[in-house]
Amino acid sequence: MRSILLNPGPVSLSEGVRRAVARVDLCHREPEFFDLQDQLIKGLLDIYQCDPAEWSAVLLGGSGTSAMEAMLTSLLPRDTQLLVLENGVYGERLSKLASIYGISYQVLHVPWGDATDLGALAEWLASGKITHVAAVHHETTTGRLNKIDEIAAICAQHDVQLLLDAVSSFGAESIPFSSGALQAVAATANKCLHGIPGLAMVICRRASLEQDIEPRSMSLHLPSWAEQQAKRSTPFTPAINAMLGLAQALQELGKQGGWRARRTRYRKLAKNVAATLSKLGVQAWLPATESSCVLRSYHLPQGLTYNQLHDGLKQHGFIIYAGQGDLVGQLFRISTMGEISNYDMARLEQAMQSVIGA
Ligand SMILES: Cc1ncc(COP(=O)(O)O)c(C=O)c1O
Repeated sequence: MRSILLNPGPVSLSEGVRRAVARVDLCHREPEFFDLQDQLIKGLLDIYQCDPAEWSAVLLGGSGTSAMEAMLTSLLPRDTQLLVLENGVYGERLSKLASIYGISYQVLHVPWGDATDLGALAEWLASGKITHVAAVHHETTTGRLNKIDEIAAICAQHDVQLLLDAVSSFGAESIPFSSGALQAVAATANKCLHGIPGLAMVICRRASLEQDIEPRSMSLHLPSWAEQQAKRSTPFTPAINAMLGLAQALQELGKQGGWRARRTRYRKLAKNVAATLSKLGVQAWLPATESSCVLRSYHLPQGLTYNQLHDGLKQHGFIIYAGQGDLVGQLFRISTMGEISNYDMARLEQAMQSVIGA
C-alpha cells in the first residue's frame, strides 16, 4: 500500500513530480542542463518576487543541513560575532555548526517550544557586541513559527544582519525578504516545495556573496556555486534528477496559486487534523496561533505509546513523526505538507478514529 507521508519531509509526491524525476537522462555539461538550472534559479526567486538584481538563488547538492552549513560558512566574515536564537533542535544545530567551524557565537536560548525572547534579543543587539543573528523560521521540533518579522525588524533597527533557516517554511510561509537585515535564507527542495530530497538552496543577497571571505569549505562554498551558475556552468556534479523534479514542482506551485495558496491549503488540512484529534481527546501541544501552517505537535493520546500510535496509523497507510530529544515521550507531530488529497484526509480521519478511539 502507498503510504501518505505526514512527517516533516520528505513529502508525498505528485504524479507529475514522480514522473519528472526520471523523465530524461541529462549530462550536467550540456546546454539542456543549464536551461534547467536557469529555470530553477528564476523560479525560486519568483516565489517571493525577489528582485534578481538584488538576490541570487544558489543551488547545491545536499540536505537542509547542507544549506544551513553553506549559509553560515560562506557568508559570515572571520570577525563575525554571531547570536544564535535557539528554541529547538534546528536552532541548536546552527550553534553546533558555528562551533564546528570556529565561528564566534553567543546563544539566546529558551526552552524548546517557547517563543524567542524579543526583549532579550533587543538587549543583545543594543550591546553592540553582535554583528549577525542566525534564526530558525519554523522550528520543526515543536511546530512553532518564530516571529521572524519582529526578529528582522529588531535586527534592522540595530544594523545587524540576519541569516535564516527556512528549511521547513520556504514556499508556504511569509518571509520578510523586504527587510534590509535579511541576508540569506536556507531552504530545501523536499519540504514545502514538494520536490525530492538531495537538492538544497540558499537565497542570498548578491552583496553578501560578494564579500571577500576566505572559504571554509570547498563543496559548500556558495560564492563558487553562484559564480559558476551565473556562467551557465556548475562546479561539481549537481543533483540533476532532484532538479528535474523541482522544475515540475515549481510549475505546480505556480498553478496552484503560489506560496499563499499553499499556506491556505496547509492551514485547512492542519485545522481538520486538529479537529479530528480534539474530538478524540487529543490536545494540541502548542496553540494553533503559534504553530506554522506546515506542522503541529500534539500530546500523546491517553493509554497509547508513540510506537503504538505510529504503527497503528502506518497499518492504515499514514506515516506520522515522533517528538525529538526529551520530547519523545510527550508529543507526536503531524505535517500536512506534500500531495495530500481530500480523500486522503477523510481516510486519515477514519484511521485516527480506529487507532485512537478504539
Ligand atoms: C527547520 C529545519 N532546518 C533544518 C533541517 C535539516 O534538514 P535535513 O534533515 O534535510 O538536513 C530541518 C529538517 O527537518 C528543519 O526542519
